[in-house]
Amino acid sequence: MTAQLFTPLQIGNRTLSNRITVAPMCQYSAIDGSMTDWHLMHLGSLAISGASMLVMEMTAVTPPGHITPHCVGLYSDDNEAAMQRVVEFVRSISPIVLGVQLAHAGRKASAHRPWSGQGFLRPDEGAWQTEAPSAVPLAPGWPAPHAMTRTDMQQLTQAFVRAAQRAARIGLDFIEIHSTHGYLLSEFLSPLANKRADEYGGSLENRMRFPMEVFRAVRGAFPADRPVGAKISGTDFVEGGFSPDEAVVYSGMLKREGCAYVTVSGGGVVLDAKVPVGPGYQVPFAERVKKETGITTGAVGMITDPQQAEAIIASGQADFISLARAMLFNPRWPQHAAVALGVEAPYPPQYERAAPKAWRPGRTLGKLA
Ligand SMILES: Cc1cc2nc3c(=O)[nH]c(=O)nc-3n(C[C@H](O)[C@H](O)[C@H](O)COP(=O)(O)O)c2cc1C
Repeated sequence: MTAQLFTPLQIGNRTLSNRITVAPMCQYSAIDGSMTDWHLMHLGSLAISGASMLVMEMTAVTPPGHITPHCVGLYSDDNEAAMQRVVEFVRSISPIVLGVQLAHAGRKASAHRPWSGQGFLRPDEGAWQTEAPSAVPLAPGWPAPHAMTRTDMQQLTQAFVRAAQRAARIGLDFIEIHSTHGYLLSEFLSPLANKRADEYGGSLENRMRFPMEVFRAVRGAFPADRPVGAKISGTDFVEGGFSPDEAVVYSGMLKREGCAYVTVSGGGVVLDAKVPVGPGYQVPFAERVKKETGITTGAVGMITDPQQAEAIIASGQADFISLARAMLFNPRWPQHAAVALGVEAPYPPQYERAAPKAWRPGRTLGKLA
């Protein structure tokens, strides 16, 4: 039998062995932006899952760009050394294609990690001044961000460049630019957060200007033979917000500038959006982007079932799937999916005897333990 989910895919000059990728997932377990032993365990576990590509969590390019004080950064030599340790560990156990998601949290920065409190930090909890395209708070009661000046924006672009250079030195296979979920670059893209009167606000062309400047700068700073992709919004899920039509235009422009792929997510720019969460709820946005631009496209959001995943790939709605919660719930998801679809599963040799076909009645474990 064949399953389209287990066919290879080319992203830039990197070959994915199948269509299952692990989505970036904040762990809120860094110290001063540096990855810790938690990341060794978390990423190590996901790296031997049988997925073909692993995106390391949202990583801030400057300290104010962290969502919480516990997020990962890539702006200091210590951050670089800590990430290098994790990357070397993952490389020692798995051939997975490994990259990092570079970001700035914008007006959603200076917040609690999910298990330490709700919402934004208060001054006595170590709050910092957030920055965004406009001085519009995330929601009533939230602190107003500082509206970034042109100098702030140029400096931030340079911070993205330095982080990309660090990612290159560490030997990462790819970079993903985070431009969704209401963090800084999606704030620039969304009319709900971007109220600027200069050439970075107003029309879609203007709202795309800063994200595109960042993309071009990162693309230029990262080795040409390694891909740079982006996670984007298919929609803000709000009337008058960033729309599916705009997602198509943005993806097309990214493609023309050498973006290797987009993963189409959405929402997060405002807190009161009505998101119709359900199985594959964002897949139609990915499908439109793929059909109308031809860019290599990932689908994300409530993809949990092997047959569902197979149908998304086999019907051409997306080129790959990106799994977050399903992979945390079951880090052997790709191996289980292969069994469900009746194809050979990718196992590390140490785990080959875990494959159910090796459990045949009468078959012993052999002389060695
Ligand atoms: C624990 C956790 C952390 C997340 N952190 C990130 C992140 O760092 N960057 C990102 O783009 N999305 C992040 N997300 C969103 C996921 O990547 C994904 O887009 C979303 O969860 C929908 O996919 P799912 O239904 O497979 O979980 C996170 C999700 C979870 C559950």
